[in-house]
Amino acid sequence: MKPKIGILISGRGSNMMALVEQAQGYEVALIASDKPDAPGLAWARERGLPTFALSPKGIGKPAYEAEINGALDEAGIETIALAGYMRLLSDDFVARWRGRIVNIHPSLLPKYKGLDTHQRAIDAGDTVAGCSVHVVTEELDAGEVLGRAEVPVLPGDTADTLAARVLAEEHRLYPRVLADFVAR
Ligand code: GRF
Repeated sequence: MKPKIGILISGRGSNMMALVEQAQGYEVALIASDKPDAPGLAWARERGLPTFALSPKGIGKPAYEAEINGALDEAGIETIALAGYMRLLSDDFVARWRGRIVNIHPSLLPKYKGLDTHQRAIDAGDTVAGCSVHVVTEELDAGEVLGRAEVPVLPGDTADTLAARVLAEEHRLYPRVLADFVAR
């Protein structure tokens, strides 16, 4: 029985698609989102993948996370992969899943934790950028780095052109690192 992965998304979910399409050594058993209209959910449903969507608006984070946890438990999820998930997980949620949540972040951690990573790399005059897969802890983008991939920053790069170059590497890095992680 392959380890079951739950993927949390908030938008298009291109990393989720890569994790599904390149799955080796794990099985994607649920795709969940805080955005019922997340485009990635439609893509997953078209492929017959189980999905769960709930907006936390009006119910508050504890009740929202309890519902997400219920769906993850029902699907037999053992490891959570965040993929473009834009909400902060509560300390309680992280504690419940300690050591079993991973995330992909669009910088070479520990550099550029947080947002606007590509513009910050360009503004700093960096010649190398990239992405990192890390274990999620209570501290933002600070857990053990499991793998990284580098790309060049080219003259004339904008945040968008750099983001596109990094995203292509994310789609190669994440499935490989996740497969290694669940096999640990
Ligand atoms: C990407 O920059 C990724 O690094 C970050 O969210 C952005 C969108 O990813 N996690 P996706 O296309 O929704 O997977």
